[in-house]
Amino acid sequence: MANNFEKQNEKLWNELTDIHIRSYDIASFKTGMSSLDEIQLKELGKIKGKKILHLQCHIGIDTLSLAREGAIVTGVDFSKRSIEYANKLKKELGIKAEFIQSNVYDLKDLLNEKFDIVYSTQGVLCWLKDLKQWAKIIEHFLKPKGFFYLMESHPILNTFEDEPDGALKIDYNYFHNAQPIKWDAGGPDYSADDYIVKNPSFEWQWSLSDIINSLSNAGFKIEFFNEYNKLFYKALPQMKRNKDSWWYLPNYEQKIPLMFTLKAIKE
Ligand SMILES: C[S@@+](CC[C@H](N)C(=O)[O-])C[C@H]1O[C@@H](n2cnc3c(N)ncnc32)[C@H](O)[C@@H]1O
Repeated sequence: MANNFEKQNEKLWNELTDIHIRSYDIASFKTGMSSLDEIQLKELGKIKGKKILHLQCHIGIDTLSLAREGAIVTGVDFSKRSIEYANKLKKELGIKAEFIQSNVYDLKDLLNEKFDIVYSTQGVLCWLKDLKQWAKIIEHFLKPKGFFYLMESHPILNTFEDEPDGALKIDYNYFHNAQPIKWDAGGPDYSADDYIVKNPSFEWQWSLSDIINSLSNAGFKIEFFNEYNKLFYKALPQMKRNKDSWWYLPNYEQKIPLMFTLKAIKE
């Protein structure tokens, strides 16, 4: 059962879907460009012919990119608008994929299949109210020896407040609190500076130990855990986009991690 925080977040994501349809580079995607970066493609390994469950798939671009690599994909998201658009895009491009509108926590009621890979990337964990349950759900949907792949912004990044001089100041908690942080409406969207978001959001902070321990307690063995000094979006105003299309934090490039990836194998 969705709680009130999740219901509010669902409203936010329905609102943002319409913005992202304009701000994500869908034109390039339509001409055949993959939304999967070189790190994911290398770390995922061979996915051709693999059954992949994509959790929190948003408008389905990554899901359909996985399908273009030859995977058999199912994308899941609780936003009705996102799933409607993902289905529209799949039809328009003639790509084979399944999309299911569901909260991650209710998915077992709707889906009765097992997968080789569960995949979830880029801005997913802060929307999740319970990582122990989340890890058990991932474990449930995997075949034996299947794996979970995660690419996410580093939790240390969520502790910083924007400072006008570009310095980093720790203002927010690193450690988890059961009560989510409320972000008021009225700020710009992360992918469209000129759009002011109308809905508030509720986000949970998870430490690295929360993430890793939830997976190991659910029976996973961590095959790798990698940290990077670059990120997939502009999380702070002073971040700069490099020619390689990743976002970097000037003056801190060798000082702090901005992103991590992990691969966890179902034992
Ligand atoms: C930042 S997006 C995911 C990133 C994605 N890689 C993209 O295309 O940008 C976060 C997604 O999580 C979804 N979401 C948030 N909480 C969820 C939940 N409890 N169950 C299912 N989907 C959820 C939102 O609807 C949204 O589409």
